[in-house]
Amino acid sequence: MASEIKKIAVFTSGGDSPGMNAAIRSVVRTCAYLGKECVGIYRGYQGMIEGDFKPMDARSVNNIINKGGTILKSARCEEFRTPEGRKKAYDQLKKEGVDAFVVIGGNGSFTGALKFNEEFGFPVIGIPGTIDNDILGSSYTIGFDTAINTVVDVIDKIRDTASSHNRLFFVEVMGRDVGHIALNAGVGAGAEEILIPEQNLGLERLLDSLKRSKASGKSSSIVIVAEGDKIGKNVFELKAYVEEHLPIYDVRVSVLGHMQRGGNPTCFDRVLASRMGVKAVESLLEGKSNLMVGIRDTKLVLTPLAEAIKAHTEVDEELIRVSDIMTT
Ligand code: F6P
Repeated sequence: MASEIKKIAVFTSGGDSPGMNAAIRSVVRTCAYLGKECVGIYRGYQGMIEGDFKPMDARSVNNIINKGGTILKSARCEEFRTPEGRKKAYDQLKKEGVDAFVVIGGNGSFTGALKFNEEFGFPVIGIPGTIDNDILGSSYTIGFDTAINTVVDVIDKIRDTASSHNRLFFVEVMGRDVGHIALNAGVGAGAEEILIPEQNLGLERLLDSLKRSKASGKSSSIVIVAEGDKIGKNVFELKAYVEEHLPIYDVRVSVLGHMQRGGNPTCFDRVLASRMGVKAVESLLEGKSNLMVGIRDTKLVLTPLAEAIKAHTEVDEELIRVSDIMTT
């Protein structure tokens, strides 16, 4: 089985995340090290359908370990959701002589890979790459560490101006369905309150907390809001609501947006990506498939893709408690 794999494809899919290039580099170089051919696919599943392939050797990934984004580009592909689209992709892979692929992405990308394997028996391994850190089977996804450091960096700057003007800031951070970025960066940046989708604290609690904060002598405050928060109001509506109910506050809003997805990956993300790339290629060559490489307690682990896509990882209750205590 293992000797049947001669050529491995690698691609990035879904939202990009810092460290994806380090993962591509790792897959390419592991192939070179083990005497296997490697081909990069541009624009994820879309490029697979269109046959947008590029042979890659160890030198084609020089000087990318430090770069954010993905040199292979990324896309969300509707056509791959159809059986016709997947058949086209399969034909392109066969034409190119590809025997297996490594997909670097999130839940949607893994769902596509699993479906593809079911239909064509094609060996696939996933590497979790998303800033959201929401994939079951890994304590960390590639890009999360960089993103939270970016957010903390920006909030430190916002704090300077917030405290100079005695203002309250609502800072919206990414995290479509989960609050990992908000919670971790919020604790790291010393936020007053952290609003995440997993906990609907309600508007009353927010007002109480802000009242207490003023009464305790705090002059400025930062409230982090995950974009997927379920409080029922977006950051601008929250600003209006607080201004109406607590006119003592001078409120400003800052939506951090896609800057959270860019920038040079941290050392943690580069190392994680390098380790996961090696494990992904080795796993394919050992005849494994339909698995995702993850990390738990500093050790790499393999989780069935079918498990990984079932649900999002839960937020750390202990960290929520720490956050509550720190806002005293
Ligand atoms: O999944 C990563 C993520 O950055 C989410 O946090 C965010 O909701 C989403 O992607 C934004 O996607 P897009 O760049 O396609 O608007």
